[in-house]
Amino acid sequence: MIVKATDEYLSLLNKSVARELQVSAQYMLQHTKMEKLLRKVIKENYLLETTTYEEFGKVLKDFAIQEMKHLGAIMERIYILGGEATTKPDKVVIGNSLKEMAKLGVDAEVEALEMYRQIIEAAKEIGDRETWVMFSKIYGEEENHLLVFQDYAAMEDEPDLPEPPESDWRSIFNKTEYISLLNKALASEISAIVQYTNQHEKADGLDRLRKKKAPLEVATGKNKASVVSDLLKKVFMDEMNHMEMISERIYEIQKEAIATVDPLPKIGNDENEFLRLDRDAENYAIVLYRKIIDEATKLGDIKTKKMFEEIIQQEEEHYWSFDDYAV
Ligand SMILES: [Fe+2]
Ligand SMILES: [Fe+2]
Ligand SMILES: [Fe+2]
Ligand SMILES: [Fe+2]
Repeated sequence: MIVKATDEYLSLLNKSVARELQVSAQYMLQHTKMEKLLRKVIKENYLLETTTYEEFGKVLKDFAIQEMKHLGAIMERIYILGGEATTKPDKVVIGNSLKEMAKLGVDAEVEALEMYRQIIEAAKEIGDRETWVMFSKIYGEEENHLLVFQDYAAMEDEPDLPEPPESDWRSIFNKTEYISLLNKALASEISAIVQYTNQHEKADGLDRLRKKKAPLEVATGKNKASVVSDLLKKVFMDEMNHMEMISERIYEIQKEAIATVDPLPKIGNDENEFLRLDRDAENYAIVLYRKIIDEATKLGDIKTKKMFEEIIQQEEEHYWSFDDYAV
């Protein structure tokens, strides 16, 4: 038996999960918002091959991926310790300028460092050496995030530029229900990412699911849960991509992306339940995306239509791959 984790200890770890969920979505959406913020006319930007916006955007995407890795590691640890990892993120705040985003990043990272010092102490106290080592490593990365955000937060103020006049072709984007539909798609991608990541870590971490029984399972070191876990990893990488594409599109048409998790992720207790719930999630996405393709066609929003046609093909593949293993 590894260390005995109290409920209090597990809920402390879950606080860090909620935070990692928040910042990975926050930084990813901020990354995609560069498309909207990009001011091609700023003198220092327009002759250069790159812009401050693009460079900061790359930093944000790198950070988002690092936060996802933290998230996965902490979730797995919670399952190893016999707990249940949460699916509820802390509140995501995007901001409207580089400077504002950087300041929000500073706040988030300062909070993380405080919380992770607490966790490192608590882990030391109960002798949970593995968690102690893990959070010490994560701590170093959060500190690096903080330093980078501090540099961007200290930048000179960005000039306030007048909004360019709107052209006719863009009037279709003024339909509120259409933008809500796109945000609904974004919410379903975030939900799928959270659900699949959580299940993947549960399959890898939870003792009951890791058990190998049949001789071939013991000999290969694999069982159904680990096969499903590998599949989930592949699928959630696709969903990450979809999330990025959809929010980038929302910002490109100068609207606001909203980081909600909808429908609520459902985790399940074993690999067969995972598969059934995941098939439902894909079904939900396919039905919703068909509706979006219809609306986009009606409005003449060809770019969004094509994007969802590409995405829906992948969702169907996900559906069938879950269906293959489901009983
Ligand atoms: Fe993190
Ligand atoms: Fe961070
Ligand atoms: Fe997706
Ligand atoms: Fe999918």
